[in-house]
Amino acid sequence: MKQQDMTLEQLREYDGKGPEGRILLAANGKIFDVTRGKRFYGPGGPYGLFAGRDASRALATFSMTEDVFRNEYDDLSDLTSMQMESVREWEMQFTEKYDYVGRLLKPGEQPRDYTDTEDEQSEDQKDKSESEKKTD
Ligand code: HEM
Repeated sequence: MKQQDMTLEQLREYDGKGPEGRILLAANGKIFDVTRGKRFYGPGGPYGLFAGRDASRALATFSMTEDVFRNEYDDLSDLTSMQMESVREWEMQFTEKYDYVGRLLKPGEQPRDYTDTEDEQSEDQKDKSESEKKTD
């Protein structure tokens, strides 16, 4: 999907139950498209609770109960450095395995404009000759 920053509220729409079935989750302020992992995150999957949510606190504390998810932006400021380290490790795993979508916006934060970014992953083959030159 197009790179974009989202509020928690916008993120909530991508819980895999929408028409596209797209599943996003956030970890350490970054949003990832985990649709490919729908056997984990899809409805009824073992990590279905993470779908459309900021999973940081759950990952940091290894807990998977509803109360670990907030309805407002969670600044994670009460987590220990070890817990934060664990969130960063998860973030790295997601970075390796899934597509990065954008940042999870704090209240009042403005989304970034990604239209000029070089990242072509999200571009709809606007410039075919350019993408054919790519070697990777
Ligand atoms: C008895 C407890 C648990 C068992 C047996 C277990 C088992 C597993 C296994 C086998 C995988 C790898 C699946 C695969 O790659 O095919 C996995 C992945 C994962 N687990 Fe757990 N898990 C447990 C608890 C937890 C908890 C408490 C959390 C977080 C709060 C968690 C979060 C995850 C995540 C995020 C993945 C990665 C899925 C992905 O690749 O996208 N797990 N787990």
